[in-house]
Formats: sequence, structure tokens, C-alpha cells
Amino acid sequence: TYNAIRTLSTGAPDIQRLTVFGGGLMGAGIAQVAAQAGLKVAIADLSDQALENSRNIITKSLTRIARKKNPDDSAAQKQFVDGVFANLTTTTSAQEAIADSDLVIEAIVENLATKQELFRRLDGMADPKTIFASNTSSLSIRKIAEVCSDDRRKRFSGVHAFNPVPQMKLIEIISTSETQPEITEALLDLCKRMGKTPVQCADTPGFIVNRLLVPYLLEAIRMVERGDATAADIDTAMKLGAGVPMGPLELSDFVGLDTLSHIARGWREERVQTGEIDAKQVEEIKILDKLVSEGKKGRKSGEGFFNYS
Ligand code: CAA
Ligand code: NAD
Repeated sequence: TYNAIRTLSTGAPDIQRLTVFGGGLMGAGIAQVAAQAGLKVAIADLSDQALENSRNIITKSLTRIARKKNPDDSAAQKQFVDGVFANLTTTTSAQEAIADSDLVIEAIVENLATKQELFRRLDGMADPKTIFASNTSSLSIRKIAEVCSDDRRKRFSGVHAFNPVPQMKLIEIISTSETQPEITEALLDLCKRMGKTPVQCADTPGFIVNRLLVPYLLEAIRMVERGDATAADIDTAMKLGAGVPMGPLELSDFVGLDTLSHIARGWREERVQTGEIDAKQVEEIKILDKLVSEGKKGRKSGEGFFNYS
């Protein structure tokens, strides 16, 4: 049976139990950071293999953190990692994953129809009080939420974390015209409990960071395609000339060339016609499509513009 959501002193929901759908690069990171902050977290994905991948991503990250915390004490390192995993469960059953959940964060493939299909299914399964959120990079929160009931849309928000989640302090919180203020308040409180700095922005393409970052990444890929410079020299130039920690091609590999391609396609299909995005910014790029079609998705598949194996 579902216990009523506890509330903060202000009356806003107190989020203590989180379900993450999609345990990939981002979902695993979000689940890890929430579990580290003491929440009970369930990760749901499509297969045991995908869940194994989630656990591996989290183990690798926690081990790095544990070694920094207790460099000479392997017992303390193991205790730290085991302690976080004690807050984490993984399942391929959506029903099991959302039972007793205060908040569901979706971090599945960057495709509007797929996200809508998942939320449509969950809306009929989750407790009426459960808050729904999407970690989408670029899609409209309003459009993702439109498949949910009136009451659920009042408890629907964008919660956009950054890669790698354990390291990046920013989370963008995106409300729609229907999101209730106490839901936004609950999410801002959760961000702070997870050691993150939240910002709020309108439900526009790419919110703040990606509106500026994605056109830059796509233009860098066009630069490679035109032969203006090599991927390595473009990255070196931006690190030494603009002070970024990763060059745009390494960062594209890090984000995932598949995800970047999904973002560009989503804007081409949804946001050019509304006049929000300039068609030239998201024109198809042959070299990007070719890499993705060859399964070269970047760091997560071992190869993209650079080789990681
Ligand atoms: N888990 C735990 N610790 C991690 C980690 C992880 N996944 N990744 C890095 N770290 C830690 C390392 O242990 C290291 O710690 P110390 O400095 O204390 O030793 C520190 O972070 C630095 O890591 P590295 O030494 O490996 O290398 P780095 O200095 O280059 O840092 C990085 C790695 C933090 C990823 C850095 O390169 C960086 O900030 N890159 C840019 C990332 C970025 O721009 N992200 C946003 C992408 S856009 C997005 O996410 C939105 C979207 O929708 C697409
Ligand atoms: P990913 O490919 O690493 O992981 C996606 C996961 O979702 C996979 O494990 C896949 O099995 C699972 N999945 C797909 N369809 C599913 C479904 N119907 N039900 C349950 N699980 C499903 O992708 P990612 O990089 O983690 O991106 C996930 C989301 O986060 C996307 O919306 C992306 O735009 C966004 N995002 C990505 C980044 C980044 O840098 N990669 C940063 C911020 C936000």
C-alpha cells in the first residue's frame, strides 16, 4: 500500500523514494547521486543486460569517489560503495519500480514518442501523488506531459541533469504552465539535498545550456566534415583557446553521438516549424549520421570521433 507522501515544513512533498526509468549514462548517474544522498532508489530498464550496465557505471563512479575519500583503506572503500548500493534496487518490471515512488525521473532514449509511450503507461500505474519528471535534453516538457491526466500534468516537470552527474553541479528545473508551485519547490529541495545547484528556466528548446551548447557541438562536427581542421586540433584549440575542460568533439563523444543526433532530429522535426530553432542550426550532418549508423556512438560504445577502447 502507498503511504501518503510526507511533506516538508512548507507543505511541499518531501521526496524520499525515487524511481529512474532508463539506467544509462544519465539514469545511472541520477540514481547514484540520489542514493548517495540517502534516498531509496529503483532503476528500471528494458533488460537485465541494461541493468548490469547501470550497475557497472555506478560501481566505476563510486569506486573513483571511494578511492579519493579513503585512498589507503580498501575496507572503508568497500563499505562506502556497499552503503550506496544498499539504497539501490534494479528491475525490468515497471510496476515494481514505481510502487511507493514519490518521484519518477525518466532518462530513456531522446525520442518524443518513446517518452510519451512510457509516461502514458506509467500514468495509469503510479499513485496519484507520484511526481513525474523528464531528464530530456531538448524535447518540450509540455509535449511529453500532454499524454498524462490533468492531475498528473500538475505534478510534471523537467529535471535536467548534466553528464557526468556525480561531477556536474547543475540541474535545470523546467516547469510548464500547469506545474504546481509546490512540485517545483519539492524538486528544488531535492536538488539541494543531492548537492546540486538548481536553476529554473522556461520550457524552450534546450532550456539554457543545450540551447547554447548543442549548436556549438553541431558546428564543430560540421567543421570536421568540411575539413577545416582535424577533430583533435579543434578540441585542442577550444581547450587552449576557450578554456573548456573538454573539446567539442570529445564532448560529443561523451554525451553520445546517438543522443546528439536525436536532439538535432527532434529540433528539425518539432522546433523549426514553430520558428523556435533556425533550420540551418540543425541541418543533417552526414559524418554524424554515418558514425551513428555504424554504431559508433562515442565513449559509451568505445568509438566515436575518437577511440576509447
Ligand atoms: N564519477 C565520479 N567521479 C568522476 C567522474 C564520475 N563519473 N568523472 C570524473 N570524476 C572525477 C575524477 O575522479 C576526478 O576527481 P579528482 O580531480 O578529485 O581526481 C575529477 O572528476 C576529474 O576527472 P578526470 O581527472 O577524469 O578528468 P577531468 O578533469 O577532465 O574531469 C570531467 C572529467 C568532469 C568530465 C571534465 O572533463 C568535464 O567537466 N568535462 C565537460 C563535461 C560537460 O561539459 N558536461 C555537460 C555535457 S552537456 C549535458 O550533459 C546536457 C545534455 O543534455 C547533453
Ligand atoms: P543512454 O543511451 O545512455 O541510456 C538510455 C537508457 O534508456 C538505456 O539503458 C536504454 O536501455 C533505456 N531505455 C530506452 N527505452 C526505454 C524504455 N522504453 N523503458 C525503459 N528504459 C528504456 O542515454 P543517456 O545519455 O543516458 O540519455 C538519456 C536521456 O537523458 C535522454 O533523454 C538524453 O537526451 C538525456 N540527457 C543526456 C545527457 C548526456 O550527456 N548523455 C545529458 C543530459 C540529459
